[in-house]
Amino acid sequence: MAIEFQTEGRIFTIQTDATTYQMQADTYGHLLHLYYGETAAGSMEYLLTFEDRGFSGNPWEAGEDRTYSLDALPQEYPTQGTGDFRSPAMAVRDAGGVWGCHLRYQSHSIRKGKYSLPGLPAVYAEEEEAETLEIQMEDPDTGLAVTLYYGVLPRLDVITRAVKAENRGNSPLFLEKAQSACLDFLAGTYDLIQFYGRHAMERQFQRSALGHGAAVIGSRRGTSSHQYSPFVILAEPDTSENHGLCWGLSFVYSGPFKAEAEKDQYGQTRISMGIQDEMFSYCLKPGEAFYAPEVIMSCSGQGLGRLSRNFHKTIRHHICRGRWKLTPRPVLINNWEATYFGFTGSRILEIARQAAELGVEMMVLDDGWFGKRDSDCSGLGDWQVNEEKLGCSLAQLSEQIHGLGLQFGLWVEPEMVSEDSELYRKHPDWALAVPGRKPVRSRCQLVLDFSREDVVDYIYEQISRVLRSARIEYIKWDMNRSIAEVYSAAADRQNPGEILYRYVLGLYRFLERLNREYPELLIEGCSGGGGRFDAGMLYYTPQIWCSDNTDAMDRIRIQYGTSFGYPISAVGSHISAVPNHQNGRVTPMETRGLAAMAGSFGLELDLDKITEEEKACVRRQICQYHQDWNLIHNGDYYRLAAPEEGSELAAWMFAAADGSEALAAAAALDVHGNAPASLIRLKGLRAESEYRDEEGRIYSGSGLMRAGIPLPRFREPYGSWRLRLWEVNHDENK
Ligand code: DGJ
Repeated sequence: MAIEFQTEGRIFTIQTDATTYQMQADTYGHLLHLYYGETAAGSMEYLLTFEDRGFSGNPWEAGEDRTYSLDALPQEYPTQGTGDFRSPAMAVRDAGGVWGCHLRYQSHSIRKGKYSLPGLPAVYAEEEEAETLEIQMEDPDTGLAVTLYYGVLPRLDVITRAVKAENRGNSPLFLEKAQSACLDFLAGTYDLIQFYGRHAMERQFQRSALGHGAAVIGSRRGTSSHQYSPFVILAEPDTSENHGLCWGLSFVYSGPFKAEAEKDQYGQTRISMGIQDEMFSYCLKPGEAFYAPEVIMSCSGQGLGRLSRNFHKTIRHHICRGRWKLTPRPVLINNWEATYFGFTGSRILEIARQAAELGVEMMVLDDGWFGKRDSDCSGLGDWQVNEEKLGCSLAQLSEQIHGLGLQFGLWVEPEMVSEDSELYRKHPDWALAVPGRKPVRSRCQLVLDFSREDVVDYIYEQISRVLRSARIEYIKWDMNRSIAEVYSAAADRQNPGEILYRYVLGLYRFLERLNREYPELLIEGCSGGGGRFDAGMLYYTPQIWCSDNTDAMDRIRIQYGTSFGYPISAVGSHISAVPNHQNGRVTPMETRGLAAMAGSFGLELDLDKITEEEKACVRRQICQYHQDWNLIHNGDYYRLAAPEEGSELAAWMFAAADGSEALAAAAALDVHGNAPASLIRLKGLRAESEYRDEEGRIYSGSGLMRAGIPLPRFREPYGSWRLRLWEVNHDENK
């Protein structure tokens, strides 16, 4: 069993292949955290130290014992009001406005398989692959009952956490904060690694030493956001790509979140993650329950690379679902950067015809095909095909595209409404807006109230009608603004503190229904590029458009940051035109292709404007992608050289888990005269094997991994390099 309970001392121990997690329900019923790190045996209760510390709160049960204080002890799920003055995981207020809640252990259960959460995405697994621990806690004063969930996937070194809060009392309770996971570290110095950004420059790597004073990141935008990713890493200062201890936390949720890390007065570190508590206040009526979404945790004693691979495998195999989870995704062309809103049906067909000649497999029609939508100022909410603009019905266009041998995909933005739309004129109260106040506009649009079931159902029907009307194999689900007005006009949803949570539940309900009713449909998530790139969305959409920035150099940096927490298969990535539309940079087609192939590959440009030579390059790259797809999506990913500030090279590679084949790639971020040779060391090969490249050259695995390989001298800006390797005599070496 991965989960064990030792009755003496009431100690819970979770063992994964390479890590141990331990906690104790002590004599007072407080759930104390004992350890999370590389495999360790035995009870670690001895780690707890007790001192009489000035100004420390002592719980009533401790009587005269002033050495027992929750302000200094490591806890599993700290609540506000217990004399622990660090940031709590949960804060509760009763109907009279009184704050505080003091949870004590009641009981627990251990079972095979992985728990699930109603209405929320969560890691799933076969009975044999996972175990679940549920710990019941209760506060007799408020009547609040809390269940702490732990899901264990031993082979992946993953432990998931989630929380259920139930009101077993007689009057309403208000959850003012409800985090999903909290980790207390007794000692040590740590760096916090987080991924900040902005529209068109998402998930930039930042590593900073944690000191006293909280480091807090999160989103107040209604979505997980471009600005901070709901994925963070705590690492020991000497931890690098391949060595050292680190812990990752990934939030399986697509709404506002908060991650906090703080070194306390005694040098102990607390990190927590969960729903953003600003604008959150959830009313639990007697008998009601609330679920705090899941956090996936992993610990690696072998550096950041191993930590990322743990998350990649977990998300790829235990978050992503359905038909497209592990099957090759079609190489698509999207018309957005080729035409923006200015297209007709015949222009789309022309793009499709040219794309088919290059080996593209799907044509995606982006924004502008419906309602009155020739710019971003109108039409959202009116999901009726604009046949006048297309010159035919959607079914006819789709059939013609299929006639060219391509599948057909469509852009939608279901959560939005334009004020200039039939829908808004009919239902102005369906938009999130405060009565009597002027709403904040963003991209000229308002957000539909997805906390309301009637709104979600109506939009579902509209989109579903379109999907039924033509052969559509893919949709791109876009979301192009943040939520500013947190107010619902629905009479039964007047508590503004619940709206953002209920909005996300409404979004998930829509997506779940779509997945169930259209199991063959490939859905790509998008929010102005990568503004909602999180493990929650990946439960419904196995790939997400990673950024609106399609410049190869910026993309390499964005994809580098993204790779720490999310699998390569999740990254929607396209070749686009030069000069690039976002930053004007000119990069070679070869490099653009290489960057786009580190993801779910596609094209997004006017094929009339590229040379025959470039077309030949794209054709070749599509063939390479077909050949390498399995390695790229299902192989192990290694970061070889980081495209950080000031570095001149980015390099990465994919290796089959058994070392039988590999693909390494590098791109020059800068060029200099008389430059020294760049040498990179490969990873994931078998040291004792030999490898053959595409030209038939033979290398030893040990040489490539220990001595490295020199890259060719790049004589043009932004040049790139690729090395495909096959193990010689693979079958005999097995
Ligand atoms: C934002 C997306 O990220 C783009 O790719 C494109 O689909 C536009 N929206 C369309 O409005």
